[in-house]
Amino acid sequence: MRLISRLALGTLVSTAMTFAAGTSASAQEKQITLGFSQVGAESAWRTANTVSVKSAAKDAGINLKFSDAQQKQENQIRAIRSFIAQKVNVIAFSPVVESGWEPVLNEAKAAHIPVILTDRAVDVKDTSLYVTMIGSDFLEEGRRAGRWLEERYKNEPGPINIAELQGTVGSAPANDRHAGLMEVVKNDPKFKIIASQSGDFTLAGGKQVMEAFAKTYGKQINVVYAHNDDMALGAIQAMEEAGIKPGKDVTVVSFDATKGGFEAMIAGKINVDVECSPLLGPQLMSAVKDVVAGKQVPKRIVTNETVFPMNVAAQTLPSRKY
Ligand code: AHR
Repeated sequence: MRLISRLALGTLVSTAMTFAAGTSASAQEKQITLGFSQVGAESAWRTANTVSVKSAAKDAGINLKFSDAQQKQENQIRAIRSFIAQKVNVIAFSPVVESGWEPVLNEAKAAHIPVILTDRAVDVKDTSLYVTMIGSDFLEEGRRAGRWLEERYKNEPGPINIAELQGTVGSAPANDRHAGLMEVVKNDPKFKIIASQSGDFTLAGGKQVMEAFAKTYGKQINVVYAHNDDMALGAIQAMEEAGIKPGKDVTVVSFDATKGGFEAMIAGKINVDVECSPLLGPQLMSAVKDVVAGKQVPKRIVTNETVFPMNVAAQTLPSRKY
């Protein structure tokens, strides 16, 4: 009897052990590995985006391989090639610029690794090189800023001289925020872009470019059109140092609507902030899971965004998440 019950116990224990081993093996097999190549850490927006991606991956139980490209396309291409070599399940990236992606995307396709774009688009003829693009409509953001400017200056004869602080040269948000503005104001001759230069989406870049603009154009500038909050904040510093009152002498238009942007609006130094949400992590992880499960995902997933004029800043800031 004792022998039988010892044998039975042994069988039970080994069955349980096999089951446990089997469970963890299959759980491990099922864990998705995502290779993510981030643009860099150039702005408060980008920092919030990185936090969103990392925490959403953790919440979704996805094994994230994260790589920071320090705003260099060659670093992103190297990271994507390394993800291919590591045979990750899915590759996602925020392309620093729009062009030049065909070769590496074809390599991912040949390796049967699906690619998801987040935040920024690529300019490729063959759109089957990526599964979906999740992020803002930058063109519409530019149009929203343009419409706000038209309304702001509707009773003024002009000229309205705009100094533009562009984002990274060749990036989707820089291209589209410029194009969106032009689309709206191009038929209104009172709006003139008198200066346009890249500040690379950084505070230091925005400050440096604005210092030069202030020296060359001084009081001729009516509007600073900054492609993001970091550059707007840098431009504010430069204007103040040059004796110009941002928000009063010069209308400041910005993008992102970060907490820093809101604080500047409350201080009366940014007049309007067009929202661009960096909180893309949860949508990205859900698309990654769907793609791995073989489900159809829409080719374009557009983020919901709005426009914040300075008069709503104080009441809105407490609910801002980035
Ligand atoms: O691609 C999104 C843009 O990149 C944000 O507007 C900017 O702040 C960031 O660096």
